[in-house]
Amino acid sequence: MIYRERHCPQEALKCRVPAPYGYRNPFPWPASRDRAWFANVPHRELTVEKAVQNWIRSDGDRFIFPGGGTTFPNGAQAYIEDIGKLINLKDGSLRTALDTGCGVASWGAYLLSRDIVTMSIAPRDTHEAQVQFALERGVPAFIGILATKRLPFPSRAFDISHCSRCLIPWAQYDGIFLNEVDRVLRPGGYWILSGPPINWKKYWKGWQRKKKDLQEEQTKIENVAKSLCWNKLIEKDDIAIWQKPKNHFHCKPTQHRSFCTAVAQNHPDKAWYTDMETCLTPLPQVSSKQETAGGLLDNWPKRFKSIPPRIYQATIQGITPETYSENSDMWNKRISYYKTLNNQLGTGRYRNLLDMNAYLGGFAAALIQDPVWVMNVVPVQAKVNTLGVIYERGFIGIYHDWCEAMSTYPRTYDLIHADSLFSLYSNRCELEDIMLEMDRILRPEGCVIIRDDVDILVKVKSIVNGLEWDSIIVDHEDGPLVREKLLFAVKKYWTAPAASDKTD
Ligand SMILES: C[S@@+](CC[C@H](N)C(=O)[O-])C[C@H]1O[C@@H](n2cnc3c(N)ncnc32)[C@H](O)[C@@H]1O
Repeated sequence: MIYRERHCPQEALKCRVPAPYGYRNPFPWPASRDRAWFANVPHRELTVEKAVQNWIRSDGDRFIFPGGGTTFPNGAQAYIEDIGKLINLKDGSLRTALDTGCGVASWGAYLLSRDIVTMSIAPRDTHEAQVQFALERGVPAFIGILATKRLPFPSRAFDISHCSRCLIPWAQYDGIFLNEVDRVLRPGGYWILSGPPINWKKYWKGWQRKKKDLQEEQTKIENVAKSLCWNKLIEKDDIAIWQKPKNHFHCKPTQHRSFCTAVAQNHPDKAWYTDMETCLTPLPQVSSKQETAGGLLDNWPKRFKSIPPRIYQATIQGITPETYSENSDMWNKRISYYKTLNNQLGTGRYRNLLDMNAYLGGFAAALIQDPVWVMNVVPVQAKVNTLGVIYERGFIGIYHDWCEAMSTYPRTYDLIHADSLFSLYSNRCELEDIMLEMDRILRPEGCVIIRDDVDILVKVKSIVNGLEWDSIIVDHEDGPLVREKLLFAVKKYWTAPAASDKTD
């Protein structure tokens, strides 16, 4: 699967990507969960291939998403209810989820009404445009694969990881993929598996597999889970759930799995082109078997305001509980100011938001009442690695290097926010390349908010004009004497010509 991982060209492409002819603004959330314009993602393959599984249907000028999936053809709602009978999805203790091999992300889409936010990932493969559909539906997703590199998340990030027939060979390669799931699961987090080999006694014929093979596969998975010190919580009908221990107090290395030791070279939170390993990522030390390694998280929604454990345990250099609280207040003030400058922010006009330099996730937290989701990016060049804090607050995000293309489709985001990004990247790569990438991933008529030193903003403005964005530079919320200024821009609507207009 290496060939489906990220591979960037040596030289960045200097061109803009047109929207397809007939492109329209997506339906607003929550209607977008169930429908999208055909013209925006003109691919009908899955409507045929996955018709029986009810992933997606074609209906004139639009697609309909009935909410089905490979192991839940009757809809994600009923499937999630079944999961809810096995673990508590209601008390706010579970907030962040990862769906590996997500298809069109119906599982994540239906969890949103339970205040659980899912990072849905799948590669660009034969399931044509699956992640693009997820994004078009206003559901968080990005292009990702379990192959040879770590997923771009910190350790101890997700409360749940889920696989519904996601085709990841969990039993193979010394359990390396489950080992990666273990790295990104928080202590006490759950791994949910449905599809082969679960319930093989019932389905072996339908899967066209031999009983013996399936039984062996299941035994291997059980053994990998044991080597990770996971506890098999339950297996009922089509769903099996394991739980990661809340600490490693009793977890002893086995013949098959030792603890990773080279922490200095390969920190648990390092995950940018970092090779996956088969060794077990050690949890922070505890002094008793009752203690949760790394600190207990509050339940949602208290969680997004509380001081995150990584901060009160002083593991993030230079950030104290006081600076964290000040940062939250500052973002509340900034978002109020943004809303006076763009009166569409907070109205439901924008759904998919990107914060390119998210720091502590204050931008996302200040928008918590709005019908939006935010992809919080912590650049790999940031002075401190704060992505773990963002997850501890109950938000999602990824690491990224903005000198490269993002693992997402064109026209992913309705609004892009870039705080001090261009000063971070000055002398690292060309400003123009970062802006071309912003243009690619921004929807027509989408909004950009850039805040930076005035000298940098003036340079940005000259490129903005070439991109055909309407823009204006305005003062900082504290007045004209502050050197930092804000640039608000809107990308103009333009598309490729109609097929018949094309000339050779
Ligand atoms: C049969 S579909 C199931 C989709 C969805 N989970 C459902 O239940 O409808 C398999 C999914 O796994 C994805 N997939 C296959 N190999 C993968 C890998 N190594 N890492 C991540 N996703 C993978 C495919 O792209 C596809 O989205």
